[in-house]
Amino acid sequence: MSEVVLEVKGVSKRFGGLQALSDVGIRIERGQVYGLIGPNGAGKTTFFNVITGLYTPDAGSFQLGGQPYKPTAVHEVARQGIARTFQNIRLFPEMTALENVMVGRHVRTHSGLVGALFRTAKFKAEEADIAARAHELLDYVGIRRLAEYKSRTLSYGDQRRLEIARALATEPKLIALDEPAAGMNATEKVVLRELIDRIRKDGRTILLIEHDVKLVMGLCDRLTVLDYGRQIAEGTPGEVQRNEKVIEAYLGAGHKTH
Ligand SMILES: Nc1ncnc2c1ncn2[C@@H]1O[C@H](COP(=O)(O)OP(=O)(O)OP(=O)(O)O)[C@@H](O)[C@H]1O
Ligand SMILES: [Mg+2]
Repeated sequence: MSEVVLEVKGVSKRFGGLQALSDVGIRIERGQVYGLIGPNGAGKTTFFNVITGLYTPDAGSFQLGGQPYKPTAVHEVARQGIARTFQNIRLFPEMTALENVMVGRHVRTHSGLVGALFRTAKFKAEEADIAARAHELLDYVGIRRLAEYKSRTLSYGDQRRLEIARALATEPKLIALDEPAAGMNATEKVVLRELIDRIRKDGRTILLIEHDVKLVMGLCDRLTVLDYGRQIAEGTPGEVQRNEKVIEAYLGAGHKTH
């Protein structure tokens, strides 16, 4: 039987007079690449912000790995197993690529603050492990050679891959990617597609926001389509592409897609 990784029901979120999300739900099974698409301003990032504890929803219930969870704090959500990347890259610009990944890894370490302050033997051993694992992850996303460079000096595409490495460092049950291909050229997109495929093959589950239709349709097992905060379609890429409401939302007046 298939195992449900994330099940979200009835999420609503209002900003003043704007209903950004209305009764949105998704169900993602282990090993899936699940797509979240929709025109600009549809509510995709808001949905990510809700499930990762950045925004408090007005309504909604959440289960991760079969257990209820409350996405109330970003750090707690990461500990419980959801990692993400950001549409507007959020790395520590003055830290090296390696250090950025090591920060992600600290979600899973045990020595804590006391160990860090007194640099106990256990802490030092753990740091060495974390650095080794961080190098492996940089290699995995294809930027090992950039380990010692400050993240702000990396190209846009490499920064996006670094964010994925940092997210993987938390050993997530679910990795949520918010427009990972934005700003990438065609060659970089091919490499990204291979990377996402590899992450899936290595047993992770992926939630993907992406505007590049070719990438989305080629990668996703299932998709949800949002429009003005409402879920207008759910299904396989083939089903979604044939859906009249989806065609209307993308072609209709007043929407700009990039
Ligand atoms: N913190 C906020 N305060 C007020 N309004 C917000 C906030 N965050 C998002 N919104 C609004 O909610 C709506 C949904 O925004 P969201 O960023 O979720 O869209 P999106 O689907 O990710 O779009 P894009 O494809 O452009 O990234 C937009 O109208 C946006 O202006
Ligand atoms: Mg967005």
